Amino acid sequence: MKKYLLALFCLIGTLTAAAGETVGVSMPSKVLPRWTHDGENLKAALEKDGFKVRLLFGVNNNVSNQVNDVENMIDAGCRVLVIAPIDGLAFTEVLRKAEAHNPPIPVIAYDRMIMNTAAVAYYASFDSTQVGAMQAQFIKEKLDLDNAAGPFNLEIFTGDAGDPNVELLFNGAMSVLKPYLDAGKLRILSGQREREQCYTKGWLSEAAQARLEGLISSVGYGRSEKLDAVLCQNDTVANGVTDALLAGGYHAANFPLITGQDCDTLSVVNMRHGLQAMSVFKDTRALAAQVALAVKALVAGETPVSATTYNNGQKTVPAQWCDAVPVTPDKIDAVLVKSGYYQPADVAGDAKQ
Ligand code: BGC
Repeated sequence: MKKYLLALFCLIGTLTAAAGETVGVSMPSKVLPRWTHDGENLKAALEKDGFKVRLLFGVNNNVSNQVNDVENMIDAGCRVLVIAPIDGLAFTEVLRKAEAHNPPIPVIAYDRMIMNTAAVAYYASFDSTQVGAMQAQFIKEKLDLDNAAGPFNLEIFTGDAGDPNVELLFNGAMSVLKPYLDAGKLRILSGQREREQCYTKGWLSEAAQARLEGLISSVGYGRSEKLDAVLCQNDTVANGVTDALLAGGYHAANFPLITGQDCDTLSVVNMRHGLQAMSVFKDTRALAAQVALAVKALVAGETPVSATTYNNGQKTVPAQWCDAVPVTPDKIDAVLVKSGYYQPADVAGDAKQ
């Protein structure tokens, strides 16, 4: 009985702490499916804890719109801000207002770090360096780089220049691939080996498609040269690469190995049809739950759980990573469907051909 009463008091305590408080949540885009899931999962988790939620999404990759949204949230007196920035470098100025607010408004960096500001109280994400290494490790194993004669031809497609995760993903991938590139076992025939040469504006499929179509014609992939693998940092980029290959006459049987990240439904369907070789599952439910806990702790004046730290150029921020899991076609059911993340019908579609 005592136990139940205690639980009841705790619940009432939490609800009172949260009652009437508004959490501002700013997600970067609705174009990429994962951010819609992230926003909705987080909103539901926070509402369950008694918070009100102001959830906004960026539009057309427009950085100043997102900065304005955040400024409005500060002016409206949001108690905590949760931000996944389009551009990690663009919030230094506006977040001075959050720090100057009375009481100061704590900021949580969601999935992407917010650089150069001491306003960030907490960072919850996945280990992007590890995700990049998983993508590269897959290519290394599938091409059997340690044993096969090669050389093999690779192209690299990174994400948007403003996203701090891009560098982490790139460095993680290079920690695996660099020795093979240096030894000539892996070649990048476009010559575009630096991160800056491989960006995909806004992480958009169309941008990735246009770049690969250019390379197919300039390098001669599919005619004079074989393309063995395309390291794509996420699924929207992978989808653009897949479209360029299909338009260029490729089909499942001669497809290069394409990596991805997020396990978007389109990519899962492509995996089932041999049009993408792997993706990395990052459970947005786990991230939302982690961030909801952090919001509650910050509102209660407590320190959120953090197993690590991350320096954003201004402050060493307490940080927590959720688990990322590589997914290949044979793992789709076990990882994505049995966990309830997707219904079988969500990932049962026909592939584009
Ligand atoms: C996220 C990825 C996502 C990409 C594009 C990155 O910051 O970590 O999960 O695919 O942004 O939205």
